[in-house]
Amino acid sequence: MKKILLCVTGSIAAYKALELTRLLVKANCEVKVLLTESAKAFVTRLSFEALSQGKVYDDLFAYTDHPIEHIELARWADQIVIAPASANTIAKLALGLADDLLGNVILATDKPIFIAPTMNVVMWQNTAVQANVNQLKNRKFIVLPPDAGEQACGDIGDGRLMEPQAIIKHILKPKIKTDKHVVITAGPTVEALDPVRYLSNHSSGKMGYALAEAFVDIGWGVTLISGPTQLIASQGCDVVQVRSANEMHDAVLEKVKTADLFIAAAAVADYRPQICAVEKIKKTDESDALTLKLIKNKDILASVASLTKNRPCCVGFAAETHNAREYALAKIERKNLDFLILNQVNTDNGFPFYSDHNEVQLFNKHHQQVLVLPLASKRDIANQIVNYLNENVIKKEVQTELNYE
Ligand code: PMT
Repeated sequence: MKKILLCVTGSIAAYKALELTRLLVKANCEVKVLLTESAKAFVTRLSFEALSQGKVYDDLFAYTDHPIEHIELARWADQIVIAPASANTIAKLALGLADDLLGNVILATDKPIFIAPTMNVVMWQNTAVQANVNQLKNRKFIVLPPDAGEQACGDIGDGRLMEPQAIIKHILKPKIKTDKHVVITAGPTVEALDPVRYLSNHSSGKMGYALAEAFVDIGWGVTLISGPTQLIASQGCDVVQVRSANEMHDAVLEKVKTADLFIAAAAVADYRPQICAVEKIKKTDESDALTLKLIKNKDILASVASLTKNRPCCVGFAAETHNAREYALAKIERKNLDFLILNQVNTDNGFPFYSDHNEVQLFNKHHQQVLVLPLASKRDIANQIVNYLNENVIKKEVQTELNYE
């Protein structure tokens, strides 16, 4: 019987934690519930006691059964689930504060911690909240991202608590490990001009990182080769950090040797300065212009697609401002691709670079449009691309091993 400590924080979505408790008990879990002070403004101990058939914890200094209850609770749980997690709780946990029972339990545990944030869409997008969430990811918390939709305040967007059924799937699902391996490039490359300047682009890496996370979730081995970004990769990814297109090229060719699939989501610089000045280039009074000579970078995707031995299935991205479909299909031929994902730049729906959302079309090598994915979060888009590729790119015998993590 799995032992789950469900921690509920102050949010209008706290009522959904009652349903979560019921589903966990139904799934044969032993459940203990911890309520923060703010949670008690929204839900009562009594309801959780009835549904969990156990004791509810809410006081760091209660000392009823055991003098150091936070340590006991941390030791007892197989998994800790914080749902809903408010912006305030996320900030406190990011700082490692221990001013209440929840903060103490979290510091005292080495068990997996799932955290399901919920808040207003603008609060969720706030850079302070995002920085705190990234900090928690960095510390191996498993973030169950909020759903999009209508919110209690009337706003529409990301911030709704993930539905209890979906949370259950994440925390109780058997991890299926396959022997399949994908290599994904993500983010921009930077091409040095001199020791302090470079040429680069607006890629944030979000699309590539979302794909990596979606592949980890279905049990693939994932190597993420990333240009400089602010992002933290999903736990379970092998990450190789690079800066220039040349570095990305060498890392990819090394890692694809064992890959079934290669996805080039990075925005790789097509050209780099022919010379990287050894010293900072100085502004002069003699001329109003500076001429740079750029030379072509190697095409990483085309290099992988032209491998004669151990060639993985190759998927490219195209970001086009005009004649999008025509240029995208031409890339399939020119680079010898199996699939191409087209995201159009400057549609009415926005700009795929650095946004949290995207809308894409997937073409196969016969130029057939096999998926049309309207505007959605990059994570949702990634899930659908990954499901499609997982169904259609099975080269090796799939060996599955069920283990509960
Ligand atoms: O990172 P985000 O902010 O989330 O934004 C995502 C994205 C818009 C960067 C991404 O979805 C995307 O479209 N990436 C490709 C951008 C692009 O302009 O590609 P391209 O047309 O320059 O190149 C086509 C394909 O060849 C791409 O798969 C690219 O990774 C690859 N390529 C290009 C040049 C090169 N030297 N080597 C390559 O591998």
